[in-house]
Amino acid sequence: MNLFDVYPRYKINIVKSEGIFLWDDQNRKYLDLYGGHGVISIGHAHPAYLLAIQKQIEKIGFYSNSVEMPIQQDLATKLGEQSGYNDYNLFLCNSGAEANENALKLASFHNGKKKIIAFKNSFHGRTAAAVHVTDDQKLSAPLNKEQFEVEFLELNQSEALIKALNDPNIAAVIFEGIQGVGGLDMPSEEYLQLLAKLCKEKNIVLIADEIQSGYGRSGHFFAHQSAGIKADIISIAKGMGNGFPIGGLLINPEIESKHGMLGTTFGGNHLACAAAISVLNTLQNEDLIQHAKKIGQQLSDELSKLPKIKKLKGKGLMLGIEFDFPAKSIREELLFDYGIFTGSSANANLLRILPPLTIQFDDLKPFLFALNEILTK
Ligand SMILES: Cc1ncc(COP(=O)(O)O)c(C=O)c1O
Repeated sequence: MNLFDVYPRYKINIVKSEGIFLWDDQNRKYLDLYGGHGVISIGHAHPAYLLAIQKQIEKIGFYSNSVEMPIQQDLATKLGEQSGYNDYNLFLCNSGAEANENALKLASFHNGKKKIIAFKNSFHGRTAAAVHVTDDQKLSAPLNKEQFEVEFLELNQSEALIKALNDPNIAAVIFEGIQGVGGLDMPSEEYLQLLAKLCKEKNIVLIADEIQSGYGRSGHFFAHQSAGIKADIISIAKGMGNGFPIGGLLINPEIESKHGMLGTTFGGNHLACAAAISVLNTLQNEDLIQHAKKIGQQLSDELSKLPKIKKLKGKGLMLGIEFDFPAKSIREELLFDYGIFTGSSANANLLRILPPLTIQFDDLKPFLFALNEILTK
């Protein structure tokens, strides 16, 4: 059997990792400024993470949600404390798309409505509801196209938002703390404040998709928190498990649960929870959120001295470097000539930078040197 060929892949076989570095089967070392789509939060093969997973699997790796699992409560308590969403409830699943799928369903269960407001350039995943609120028609199969009504708004256009939210049929608004796949645009603080206020007034569920921008990457636990607002549902995945598949929803206590309303076989299994708890412990023990803010600022300051960069986007260690021309050849030179992984986005002119949050400023110097050399050639 061959693999179903849906991924364009680099001809590189990664066989080893540690911290911010990767090694291929030729023993070539790479600097990882992409974390496999922004997944690696506390660094590859972090010793605390390895130990937590190893100790857990020696006891029990998996049992289903048909029994009590105190480890899920431990995770919920820690996540509540660290995120500032102490009074919210946690639902656990396995991936980002699944988190958003459940977020949208839950909003509709809650207020009985079914129209969704999403944003231009959004990406929320590839399952039925998640792909329908994703602003990329290519990702939708014919069966995805005739679902619930969705209206895509331009980010940061207050008048259009006010007008759109006058519709009484809206179940939820879904936004990314910082747009990832779409190219690092983000809602302004004033816009988020207006959005949160209008949603509250109109009984519309506000869903913050923090799957890529959450877990400290922006310099706040969640990117939307820089605006001082609270969402009703926050979807999480990626950095939550540092590579172990896990996702979840933080849910406003006003949204009532009912047995059977949401569910999954694997979601919140013992091993996934152990991995996620060790991520939270490490974020705290190593003060990684403050660190992400500081290093992100230092990196932005240095990048702003380089030539040919049109715009720097994003925050903390979720950055986009935009040029007036396609960034593909720069990304490939960085990878093949300098051994540095960076990412792409829907915006072909943008390099996406999503390193592990443990990265130090000195580790970024080879990247700054390489980028300068490529741009001044
Ligand atoms: C903001 C956002 N939401 C949802 C998803 C989907 O997550 P997953 O690939 O785990 O289904 C992604 C993945 O890139 C994402 O960046």
